[in-house]
Amino acid sequence: MLEVRGQVAPAIGPETLRAFAHAVRERLGLAQPGRRFEVLGHRLREAMRIAGWECDPAAFVFAFASGSDDEAISLAVADAITNQETSFFRDVRQLAAAMGELVPEVMSSAPGGEPLRILSAGCSTGEEVYSLAMLLLDRPQVLWGRRAQLVGIDVSSSALEVARSGCYRIGAIARAGAGPGDWERRYFAREDERFTARPLLRSMTRFARGNLVAPRTLGALGRFDLVVCRNVLIYFDAETLARAVETLVGLVRPGGALVLGHAESGMATSIQGWMNRSPDLIWYRRPEDA
Ligand SMILES: C[S@@+](CC[C@H](N)C(=O)[O-])C[C@H]1O[C@@H](n2cnc3c(N)ncnc32)[C@H](O)[C@@H]1O
Repeated sequence: MLEVRGQVAPAIGPETLRAFAHAVRERLGLAQPGRRFEVLGHRLREAMRIAGWECDPAAFVFAFASGSDDEAISLAVADAITNQETSFFRDVRQLAAAMGELVPEVMSSAPGGEPLRILSAGCSTGEEVYSLAMLLLDRPQVLWGRRAQLVGIDVSSSALEVARSGCYRIGAIARAGAGPGDWERRYFAREDERFTARPLLRSMTRFARGNLVAPRTLGALGRFDLVVCRNVLIYFDAETLARAVETLVGLVRPGGALVLGHAESGMATSIQGWMNRSPDLIWYRRPEDA
């Protein structure tokens, strides 16, 4: 028994935890191999706390697993179970190569007059989306005078809330990779211990909730010239990864490209034939007729 705020919380049995791990994999794609019951139990309690669910973990897991339409439960589990680690200009060489080399190539086959559309799938708290926007703004020549739209999606609504606010603690600058010179002053406004994206960045970006293993949640997004999905699929297993890759490919327009994180490049076996390499970048080019 665990005591929480003076009340004894009911113990969570191994069957409930196994069912929870299974449902998380099915509904979010996130595999839980070898994750200790203790950690899973902690995440489950955290999800119940976020959802305001007072008792009976087994009923909570059943409601989540059955996909019953209690949105609060799905949102709470996504917030409690996901790893949202990210930073500005993470693996910046890869992002810079995508903006400097790949975007011009992809744009050469883009329909005239349309804005460049880039998706960050699994964007967490938004740093990746703003980093892509800043790298693009630093290379005005690659846009050929077009507008750019950058969209971030994630299953975690609390992460998206931060992304939409565009407001970060000052410590995020210290953790950032090497961005364009003076980026934190040019593209953000500082106030006390926080810094907030300026209107130019905000006008180029938007955020939406979406689940890579539930393609119906992404239907309204349309297709993109470039889809970036980094440090997301490493948490999936072979089967859920295959489902997510299929979803990602569906979001790339014919002739567009998909970039995965360094650790994930090579995992997308179904599209190995589309793979291209340059020194800092591996990308998958969707054929015009596929
Ligand atoms: C470690 S962060 C990576 C953030 C960013 N892409 C980066 O590389 O810095 C992984 C993100 O993927 C999200 N995620 C996990 N499963 C997802 C799914 N099924 N659909 C969409 N996003 C998911 C998590 O909520 C989390 O914010």
